[in-house]
Amino acid sequence: MEIVKASAPGKVILFGEHAVVYGVPAIAIPVHDARVTVVAQDAPLGSGIVLHNVTLRETWAFDPAVVNANPVSQIIGLVLHAANVQPPDLSITIDSSIPVASGLGSGAAVSAAVGDAVAQSCGVTLDREQLNALVYEIEKQHHGTPSGIDNTVIVYQQPIFFRREHPIEPISVLRPITFLVVDTGCSATTKQVVADVRRLRETQPRFTQTLLTEIEALVNLAHTALSEGDHHLLGNLMTQNHRLLQSLTVSSYELDHLVNVALDAGAYGAKLSGGGRGGNMIVLSSEDRLDDLSTALLEAGAVRVLRANLSP
Ligand code: PMV
Repeated sequence: MEIVKASAPGKVILFGEHAVVYGVPAIAIPVHDARVTVVAQDAPLGSGIVLHNVTLRETWAFDPAVVNANPVSQIIGLVLHAANVQPPDLSITIDSSIPVASGLGSGAAVSAAVGDAVAQSCGVTLDREQLNALVYEIEKQHHGTPSGIDNTVIVYQQPIFFRREHPIEPISVLRPITFLVVDTGCSATTKQVVADVRRLRETQPRFTQTLLTEIEALVNLAHTALSEGDHHLLGNLMTQNHRLLQSLTVSSYELDHLVNVALDAGAYGAKLSGGGRGGNMIVLSSEDRLDDLSTALLEAGAVRVLRANLSP
């Protein structure tokens, strides 16, 4: 019996969220500690594709007549179409440790891992660029007008300097770095927040453009600071980016509170990450302060603290 495995990480945006929708570059990194793992194995003849979602404790069958039923069916439909094959007989198990609806890219990671596993099971090699294009199609159907940064960092599984319509630039770091990824426990709909920023840009174009230009300058400085291992500067730039996101109206009481707690506890810097108004914020500090900071943030109301590590 043939068994195929695929996996995709979660992600966080370090700099440039929202601005990236309007062509400003942004920096995102994978979160390897939170992953989707997919195992696909041959199933009895005529059984079609049966999916088991371990996390949600659900089992259901892929129906080729209703590929738009949900994002998982959609990515399977796109892969089968790209491979030009009929649905094989497969049992697919999906297991995810990425928290859902908190801006860590759980949906894109499921699409990436399922797409990869189905392609492999059909004996087709999809390169990263092809898989990324398919996952982006799913993102567009469910998230309004996504920039494409989420699917790209998740499919490539490495830190990226991302700019719409430009080649992807992988980033390498000079020395190890760890970010805390801190969940406010408040959910927010990225689609809604992105729509609000769009409205702000329409009603106050000069104000919004000034913010986007300032964010762009920070992203470029952060790119250099990350590559050169200047963590003090990087933290400072994070906090500056947070202030600009506040002006863009995408922060929230909880995000601002946790940013302040982190800064008061000696972090180099902190900011919201992703769509905002809830979801996650990120913190950078010296390695020896990480445990104390995690404790302080949990005591201050954070519901989960993950770590995102990058190594040279
Ligand atoms: O909420 P998240 O983590 O999926 O991040 C969305 C990032 C935005 O820049 C706000 C939107 C986008 O499509 O890039």
